[in-house]
Amino acid sequence: MNEKYLTFALGKGRLADKAMETLGRIGIGCEEMKDKSSRKLIFTNEEQKCRFFLAKGPDVPTYVESGAADIGVVGEDTLVEDDRGLYKVLDLKFGKCRMCVCGPESARALLNSRGILRVASKYPHIAKDYFENIRHQSVEIIKLGGSVELAPIVGLSDVIVDIVETGSTLRENGLVVLEEIKPLSARLVVNQASMYIQSARILDIIERLKGVIDE
Ligand code: PRP
Repeated sequence: MNEKYLTFALGKGRLADKAMETLGRIGIGCEEMKDKSSRKLIFTNEEQKCRFFLAKGPDVPTYVESGAADIGVVGEDTLVEDDRGLYKVLDLKFGKCRMCVCGPESARALLNSRGILRVASKYPHIAKDYFENIRHQSVEIIKLGGSVELAPIVGLSDVIVDIVETGSTLRENGLVVLEEIKPLSARLVVNQASMYIQSARILDIIERLKGVIDE
């Protein structure tokens, strides 16, 4: 952990631009990061004593928990799936989506039967918890790394548990939302030691962010 620099880990992909835009509203940022053609992995703003890096979403909590990053911006889906020793300090109110059970319309009957349901997901813990503890239904969980919508189409699973944002991936693949598990959004997370060591700086950032977050 570096006391002088404040290091931000941002989830790559759809959250990263919005995260930088939101930080930009409170004057935190880095010009160098705007160059989309760059393959650079870490960016420093010497003047502000801030560093920024992009990581795969599910890796952001790992960096923040270890102190390799002081602050992270990550989807709540990742935090629910993999509960870590982090301070979850702020709902950033962007990256809004829903964790859902999805599948072909024909799977609705299966969902309400007592048979063992095959569920494919990038979120095996969320899926298992939902079916076993909320629905009290026996399931076989099939863990996939992405493009989960394929699973019911090719017969690997009956349904999927996945995030739905616009719904276009489902629509274009003939699938529907069968049940909603949880609404989700992007979260600001903080390393526990950093919260004490750099508390004034981090609390100031949190307070200023609260003033610029879109409802
Ligand atoms: C996510 C999610 C869905 C899709 C939902 O996948 O797993 O597939 O986005 O978004 P939509 O409702 O706006 O269509 P992502 O793009 O992260 O890729 P992946 O499937 O390879 O993980």
